[in-house]
Amino acid sequence: MSTEKEYWTQRYQDKLTGWDTGAPTIPLKTYFDQLANKQVRILIPGAGNAYEAEYLFKQGFTNVTILDISPIPLEQFKNRNPSFPEEHLIEKDFFKHKGSYDIIIEQTFFCSLVPQKMNRVKYATKMSSLLAPEGKLVGLWFDFPLTEDLEKRPFGGTQEEYIGYLNLYFRIHTFERAYNSIPERADKELFGIFIKKHTKPKQANNPLHGKTLKAILEELIAKHGWEYMDDQVRINCFALNPTLNSSLKFLRKTPWAREKVEQLYLRSFSKS
Ligand SMILES: C[S@@+](CC[C@H](N)C(=O)[O-])C[C@H]1O[C@@H](n2cnc3c(N)ncnc32)[C@H](O)[C@@H]1O
Repeated sequence: MSTEKEYWTQRYQDKLTGWDTGAPTIPLKTYFDQLANKQVRILIPGAGNAYEAEYLFKQGFTNVTILDISPIPLEQFKNRNPSFPEEHLIEKDFFKHKGSYDIIIEQTFFCSLVPQKMNRVKYATKMSSLLAPEGKLVGLWFDFPLTEDLEKRPFGGTQEEYIGYLNLYFRIHTFERAYNSIPERADKELFGIFIKKHTKPKQANNPLHGKTLKAILEELIAKHGWEYMDDQVRINCFALNPTLNSSLKFLRKTPWAREKVEQLYLRSFSKS
């Protein structure tokens, strides 16, 4: 199995870069155009060819950092922008990066991570830890369903699911269907501005903390019954002769379904 670095580098070598828009996208450009402070510290993780960073740099923004796990797009960026500060081009795994930023820009990065709950939680946690107090996570998240095919990137998601991860660390300023997407992405992406919350989330407030899957299922069954659960999470083990054991067996090996069940649990038992 290849590492993430090898995987992405191979995609660039094979020119399998269907996500590459060749220019800054309109929603991000529109967002940048209303920023008054050109010294603001901006990070673009999983930046790829980073046309947005190039745009910012040309507009006079002095503190833009781009980060990618693969050296190829960073090299390409450097060739296009020889005067861009070298120290702001970082070849690194995002999850190992340290720093403090005022704004982090998301675009087709979240959707490139293998969609296990662990990765998505790590994403939200890391984004928050890299932001200064009141820092903002701004960008675009795809709005189409996650398929069962874990080989198929980009991985989709829903507004509700993204909020499920991000609201532990961020308050939502804006999160809605983008009105000015590039034509290929029209009606397929959400534009969001998330502001870092002051306090760290207390695990005690997270109803999933310390819960086994078995306990989660038992509580859901007791509260809702199988029929409602089948209505909310369309999987065969809830629909056909459902039992606790058969559901546990399926959910333990099917991360996307487990995640939906956990989301149902959060919806059912969260206090606010
Ligand atoms: C789908 S591409 C999107 C690139 C760019 N954001 C764009 O919109 O064109 C995902 C990018 O994330 C990078 N990437 C994936 N996992 C990463 C990680 N853990 N840390 C840093 N970069 C990563 C890949 O190398 C790739 O350039």
